[in-house]
Amino acid sequence: MAPPPFIIVAIDGGAASGKSSSSRTLSDRFNLLHVDTGSFYRAITAEMLRQGVRADDHRRLPPALAALRLTTRLAGRSAEMEINGRVAGDEIRSREVNEHVSHYAAVPELRAALLAYQRGLADFGRQHGFRGLVMEGRDIGSAIFPNADCRFFLHADPGERERRRAGQGLHDQIRERDRIDSSRKTSPLTCPPGATSIDTTHVSLEQVVELMAAAVAAKLIP
Ligand code: C5P
Repeated sequence: MAPPPFIIVAIDGGAASGKSSSSRTLSDRFNLLHVDTGSFYRAITAEMLRQGVRADDHRRLPPALAALRLTTRLAGRSAEMEINGRVAGDEIRSREVNEHVSHYAAVPELRAALLAYQRGLADFGRQHGFRGLVMEGRDIGSAIFPNADCRFFLHADPGERERRRAGQGLHDQIRERDRIDSSRKTSPLTCPPGATSIDTTHVSLEQVVELMAAAVAAKLIP
C-alpha cells in the first residue's frame, strides 16, 4: 500500500495578520508539524547582534552566518531551531530584534541558508510521524515551497494589526517591517500567483481557520 500523503501548507502574510494562530490551530487539528519561520530570522538576528555583526557588514556577516550550526528540536508539534545547540529565548521578541530583523532578513546569504534549512524540515516532519507540515512566514508559498499543497496569504488593515499587537502587550514596528519586507530584492513579501488571499481585518479567527481547514482536509483525504 502507498504511504499516506505528506502535505505542505504554506501561510504567508505581514506581521499580526493571523498566521501564528491559524497555523497552530491547523497543526493541532491535522497533526501537522508547525514551523514559525519568523522565529528563525529573529533568532539569527539576536545571535548576530550578540556577536556584534551588523546587517550591512558585507565582509563579516557571510562568514559569521556560515559558521552557525543549525539543527532542529521538537517542542510539542513545533519545530524549534537550535543555533549551535541552543534554542533562543524571549530575547527574539525584544524591541531591538523587532527593529533589526527585517534588515538581516534582506541579506541574500541569510535567506539562502534558511531556504535549505526550511526545506529540510519536511524530512524532519516525516521522520517524526506527522501527516504534513504547516509553515508560516513571508516567502513560503513563493520561494520555499512554491508547489505546496495549500498556499494561503493573509493580510489585514495595518491599524487593526497594530491593535492586535498592542492587545498582546507588544511594541512592534509593523508598518516599517512590512515596508522593508515588501521592497527587498530577494523573496519579498508578496501574494504569489495562485495562492488563496484572505483579508482578516473583519473576519474572526474561527472563520479563517474553517476556510483553511476545508482546503487542508480535501488534500489529506482525496
Ligand atoms: O513572523 P515575524 O513577524 O516574527 O517575522 C519577523 C521578520 O522575519 C519579518 O519581519 C521578516 O523580516 C522576516 N521573515 C522573512 N521571511 C520569512 C519569515 C520572516 O523575511 N519567511
